[in-house]
Amino acid sequence: MYAQMVKSEATNDDPELLAAFQARIDAGEKIEPKDWMPEGYRKTLIRQIGQHAHSEVVGQLPEGNWITRAPTLERKAILLAKVQDEAGHGLYLYCAAETLGVSRDDLTEQLLSGRMKYSSIFNYPTLNWADIGAVGWLVDGAAIMNQVPLQRTSFGPYSRAMIRICKEESFHQRQGYDLIRVMAQGTAEQKAMAQDALNRFWYPSLMMFGPSDKDSVHSAQSMAWKIKINTNDELRQKFVDQTVPQAHYLGLTIPDEALAWNEDKGGWDFSEPDWSEFYEVLKGNGPCNTDRMEARQKAWNDGAWFRDGLMAHARKSAARRVAAE
Ligand SMILES: [Fe+2]
Ligand SMILES: [Fe+2]
Repeated sequence: MYAQMVKSEATNDDPELLAAFQARIDAGEKIEPKDWMPEGYRKTLIRQIGQHAHSEVVGQLPEGNWITRAPTLERKAILLAKVQDEAGHGLYLYCAAETLGVSRDDLTEQLLSGRMKYSSIFNYPTLNWADIGAVGWLVDGAAIMNQVPLQRTSFGPYSRAMIRICKEESFHQRQGYDLIRVMAQGTAEQKAMAQDALNRFWYPSLMMFGPSDKDSVHSAQSMAWKIKINTNDELRQKFVDQTVPQAHYLGLTIPDEALAWNEDKGGWDFSEPDWSEFYEVLKGNGPCNTDRMEARQKAWNDGAWFRDGLMAHARKSAARRVAAE
């Protein structure tokens, strides 16, 4: 079945070229934008990097919402820096996608028309200040689990973008954990807010790794191409094993009655998220899908005059250069 998938997605490509391409990947070489690549590889990467870029940008919305309400100057400065980092991550990733022959405008139009997605986690609201801690601790924590292996991904520009992004993500995770620690060790009311945030973000964070391996459509080919390095279930397990002791240290309870240490596997047994909820949010029926898309649409429309101005300036400069020659 594995070989079959590889074949069916690459039917238009010359078998010799394909074999040479796979050999480069197997040898750990990076594929660069001007190198030959199968159309399926290019398309899969455009989808993956594009969705990743959109997630970074849309991911600013639930947190940006709290910048003016941060309780102290220090927390405000930290949150501002984090949200700005996410904008930067979006930019590196749009640039990496552009090296594959798609424009940033195209990617944005695909997002706004609903043909491209962003991570469903950002369709959940941030209702209280402890949620900002939970987002950093759990959402950025899950993102790091996904992204650290991608530093070794086969496509050069993506891999290099991920190296820089991961450095910043680890700051995001730590500031979130620090925030929730302060809340968990605060007054009874603050601790209750921290617990409430964990209750609401736990399962959506587990969903960030995508459906179970047996239901994941793109896994086998993406792994052969080293676009994906670990399976969804492997990464989810790793995340749970890392996070449970952190929650216990804080005196917080993971909202899963089935959670139990499994000596044989050396990891925690846990309940699967409700996948029907995942698919509903993916279809656009999550709590904030409409708000997020409206915010992106508004930003795109509000920025039209600026893009037009830049283009007009570029055209004038080009015309002046031609006239001067
Ligand atoms: Fe990020
Ligand atoms: Fe982040």
